[in-house]
Amino acid sequence: MIGLLSGTSADGTDAALVRLSGFGSATRIEAVAFLTVPYPSSLRARVLRGPELSVEEVADLSLEIGDVFAQTAAAVAAAADLGHGEIDLVGSHGQTVFHRPRRGNRPASTLQVGDPAPIVARTGAVVVSDFRTADVAAGGEGAPLAPLLDRLVFGGLGRPVVVLNLGGIANVTLVRGPEEPVIAFDTGPANSLLDGVARRELDAPHDRDGREAARGSVHSELSNRLLANPYFELSPPKSTGRETFGDRLIDDVRREHATLRTADLLATFTQFTVESIARAIERFVSPVARPTEVIASGGGVHNRTLMDALRQRLDPIPVTTSDAYGVDPDAKEAILFAVLANETIHGRPGNLPEATGASRAVVLGRISA
Ligand SMILES: Nc1ncnc2c1ncn2[C@@H]1O[C@H](COP(=O)(O)OP(=O)(O)O)[C@@H](O)[C@H]1O
Ligand SMILES: [Mg+2]
Repeated sequence: MIGLLSGTSADGTDAALVRLSGFGSATRIEAVAFLTVPYPSSLRARVLRGPELSVEEVADLSLEIGDVFAQTAAAVAAAADLGHGEIDLVGSHGQTVFHRPRRGNRPASTLQVGDPAPIVARTGAVVVSDFRTADVAAGGEGAPLAPLLDRLVFGGLGRPVVVLNLGGIANVTLVRGPEEPVIAFDTGPANSLLDGVARRELDAPHDRDGREAARGSVHSELSNRLLANPYFELSPPKSTGRETFGDRLIDDVRREHATLRTADLLATFTQFTVESIARAIERFVSPVARPTEVIASGGGVHNRTLMDALRQRLDPIPVTTSDAYGVDPDAKEAILFAVLANETIHGRPGNLPEATGASRAVVLGRISA
């Protein structure tokens, strides 16, 4: 089986080839191969325009990304000498181009593009896609979906842990046991602001290893003002996106702080990001169960400045990465969509209502063959 994903960072397509057996809490996962194919910068730029895209552009993107995903699926299959017709099942998250959380009486709305048809054609597999809509239709936010895998992988540890994914957005899952309800929600930004500054001011896809941020100093007043964002006051379940913590916020900050050095802006966004994660854990997780460890995954684990700051801020809670438990931190989210597709094929729900806010657990996705 293959899991396919491009996250909110829109940095590239992640493809995980896995051998799965069983379902539900009896699922066994063997990771076979993983690769990321970076998006061309022009494709990334178009995706990141999000809500400003025309219908025509969204239609084009859907088939183009479907093609890119199909090629990436074929490539990861080829890494294990598997060709057309030799993959049983593909779970494809697609690419989020718009995500609006629920607020008051207004329901959530979320759109992932990346048509499954080219993936079916290229792999010969059954493809499950569009995982978030069924949860939204059940009154949820369609996010986060990672908690199902987090509980499957870490539920057996016998102690409360926080699983932290550092994608464009950061999300946490408190895992207490294999059957216990989770607490899971988006905490705010992870890489989204850092990447935006790198793209605009360093002409780079990201601030590699957080080097530029490490040379800057934190503008505390700015950081404190960012921490006053009303999102942080909301009680979970809750989700957010680049619409709130993306380029528009960077524009606002730059308008008011035009002369702040790039390194200082990166240092400030790093500190703000770390503080928002730490406060979210202290406020919404620790009162329920004090985490014995924070287990990080996602591309943000490669940002040394971010990880060092997180370790310092969360001390004495140790911050580790998921590879300590045999899960490649870059592959974890792609593996999730193979596992969710497997649940769907077995007719089983994939959302955890306590994480998404849905009124009930529902079978996720559409099946194409
Ligand atoms: N060496 C690195 N240094 C700093 N940041 C990195 C590095 N490698 C990856 N990243 C960050 O990780 C992001 C990709 O992480 P990923 O988990 O794929 O996020 P998403 O799920 O949002 O696509 C990149 O956009 C970048 O911000
Ligand atoms: Mg990514």
